[in-house]
Amino acid sequence: MLDIFKSKKEEKQDFSLDMNNIPNHIAIIMDGNGRWAKKRNLPRSMGHKAGVETIRRILKEAKRLGVKNLTLYAFSTENWARPKEEVGALMKLLLAYLKSEVKECNQNGVKMNVFGNVDRLPKECQDALNGAMETTKNNTNINLNLALNYGGRDEIVRAMQLISSDVKENKIKIEDINDNLVEKYLYTKGIPDPDLIIRPSGEQRLSNFLLWQCAYSEFWYSDINWPEFKEEDLRKAIADYQNRDRRFGKVK
Ligand code: FPP
Repeated sequence: MLDIFKSKKEEKQDFSLDMNNIPNHIAIIMDGNGRWAKKRNLPRSMGHKAGVETIRRILKEAKRLGVKNLTLYAFSTENWARPKEEVGALMKLLLAYLKSEVKECNQNGVKMNVFGNVDRLPKECQDALNGAMETTKNNTNINLNLALNYGGRDEIVRAMQLISSDVKENKIKIEDINDNLVEKYLYTKGIPDPDLIIRPSGEQRLSNFLLWQCAYSEFWYSDINWPEFKEEDLRKAIADYQNRDRRFGKVK
C-alpha cells in the first residue's frame, strides 16, 4: 500500500491506493458536457471543448497511476443524430486534439488507438487518426483508445458478419466459434476487457458502450459533469474499485 498523494498539498482528500491493484483498463463515458455548458449559458460545443481539457488531465493522471488502457467514448453511432453544428464542432475538436496532442502523447509513451467505424468520419479526421496511430504505434506506457463512431451493437453485428464470411470462405469452422474467437473480430481485439467503467454526470446507463467487453466490469458513477471531472475523482473511482469483491461468477 503506497500513499502517493500525501505530498500534494492542493488535494482536499487523499486516498491510499493499492498500487498493485490499479485497474489495467479504465473506460469512461464522458457525459455531461452539454449540461455543463447550459448551466453557464454557453453553447454545447463549449462544453465539449472544456471536456477536451479534462481528457488531457485524466490521461496524464491515468498514466501516472499506471493504468495501461484508457478508453474514452468520444462519439457514438447514435451521435450523428445530434444537430449538424454540434457534430461539426465535435469533429473539429477531434482534429484539433489529434494535431495538438500527438507530439506530447508520443513523448509520454502514449499509444493511440481507435475503436469504431472510422470510415464515416471526415477524411481529415481519418488522416489525423492514422497519423497519430502510426506515430505512437511503438509506445508502451498507456494505450489511449478513442471510441469514435462506436456502438456496441454495431461492433457485435460487424463481428458476426466477419465471422460468417470467414465460415463461408472455409477460413474457420462453426465449431471454432467461441468467446476467444469472437474477441478477435471486435474493435477491441487484443485489449483486455475494461476492469472499471466510469460514467460522470449522474446518468447510470451504458448507452451502447462496450456491450460485449463489460461482462465483468465494475461500474462507477458520479454526479460531476465531465468538464469538472478531476484527477481526484479518478482516484476516488479507483479507490472504490479496490474495495470491490470481483468474483467473476465464482465463489471465493
Ligand atoms: C457527452 O456529453 C459527450 C459527447 C457525446 C462527446 C464527448 C467528446 C469530447 C469530450 C470531445 C471530443 C473528443 C476528443 C477525443 C477530442 P453530452 O453532450 O451528451 O452532455 P449532456 O448529456 O449534458 O447533454
